[in-house]
Amino acid sequence: MHSQLTCAACGKDHAVDQLQNLCTDCQKPLLAHYDLDAIRAAFTPEAVRSRTIRSMWRFWDVLPVDDPSQAVSLGEGQTPLLTCRRSGPFEPFENLFVKDESFNPTGSFKARGMSAAVTRANSLGVKTVALPSAGNAAGAATYYAARAGMSCALFMPEDTPPANLIESHVGGAKTYLVNGLISDCGKLVRNGKDRFGWFDLSTLKEPFRIEGKKTMGYELAFDLADAVGSTQLQLPDVILYPTGGGTGLIGMWKAFDEMERLGWIGSDRPRMVVVQAEGCAPIVKAWEAGEEHAPLFENAATCASGLRVPVAVGDFLMIRALRESGGTAISVSDAELLDGVRELSAHQGIYACPEGGAVWKAAQKLRDSGWIKASERVVLFNTGTGLKYNHLFPADNLPRLDHTDPNCLDALA
Ligand SMILES: Cc1ncc(COP(=O)(O)O)c(C=O)c1O
Ligand SMILES: [Zn+2]
Repeated sequence: MHSQLTCAACGKDHAVDQLQNLCTDCQKPLLAHYDLDAIRAAFTPEAVRSRTIRSMWRFWDVLPVDDPSQAVSLGEGQTPLLTCRRSGPFEPFENLFVKDESFNPTGSFKARGMSAAVTRANSLGVKTVALPSAGNAAGAATYYAARAGMSCALFMPEDTPPANLIESHVGGAKTYLVNGLISDCGKLVRNGKDRFGWFDLSTLKEPFRIEGKKTMGYELAFDLADAVGSTQLQLPDVILYPTGGGTGLIGMWKAFDEMERLGWIGSDRPRMVVVQAEGCAPIVKAWEAGEEHAPLFENAATCASGLRVPVAVGDFLMIRALRESGGTAISVSDAELLDGVRELSAHQGIYACPEGGAVWKAAQKLRDSGWIKASERVVLFNTGTGLKYNHLFPADNLPRLDHTDPNCLDALA
């Protein structure tokens, strides 16, 4: 259980036993802190390995519960780290891995954050949660709220993929379509929350979604150790992360810090890479300009709906992680990221989401430029399943065969 909730910008402490959103002084994100000295004797890599909990809650000591039985869980986390075959365009990488988050409940990594946030809200008596979403967060919120017996109100851009709208609607969430971007949806949640008694689950405006997502960082250290046959926890040289609000990137960065303070790892860190779409690249733009903050990206447009986040409240935390890690920020076009999905599918057997396609193409660009070396250990995050984006890959021109024609297979010759 966390012992402190502290503003990431001004350092003000906030009560841990109450519902919190942004810092009440400066409106920046709050981060949870744990008494790591008190738990370090029991919370060791060996202890974690021996646990029988088959979800991210095997790291419950650094999540918002006193006991793992309090978790609102659907079996999130514990996703595979797949070693890439050196086939076709993947040949230039000797040690490329995909952390495949499509295995999560509701098919995306958003499950981790929602499991943690709904667990915390549930334990503090929340009855209705509300959030803006690009799509996958909505699906996850719907199903964790259902699991907890809570109501859920969702605000999504009109052009959100149909799969996301359908799963939220089927799961019983009140699902509203908004004629704007996710930032406009966020405004509606802000304006309605007091009036309708909602708890705002917006990413980074709620302190525990990031705690759920940080478990990707913890898991990665175990997964990579297993993949390379080491008994010592291992971090890669480079992590590429498809970045919208940046919660996963900031979360993993926080996880590495906690792991070092627990004595699990040393001070070496992966180089963190923010990957965005050319049509919505506020962090890339700010990074290239050497800025601390990223202003609203005008006319944001990309088919990778998870990357269509024109302004992020955690911008300064992402840029800080990039700087401290020696990382970078890079964008790819929609045509490139869709090619990336096809390549991950056909060469690796991973029907990736477009956001996953984007990180692969970004890795390829950074390998071409020499920023990534052939032998470096590189991890791509495939944050969700391609199945929610079938609409981007229409298959309406497939050859048709008439089985009543005895010569129909001649067409294949
Ligand atoms: C599949 C997918 N990848 C990446 C992202 C971006 O995640 P984050 O907000 O942690 O940057 C999203 C957000 O909606 C998403 O749905
Ligand atoms: Zn503050």
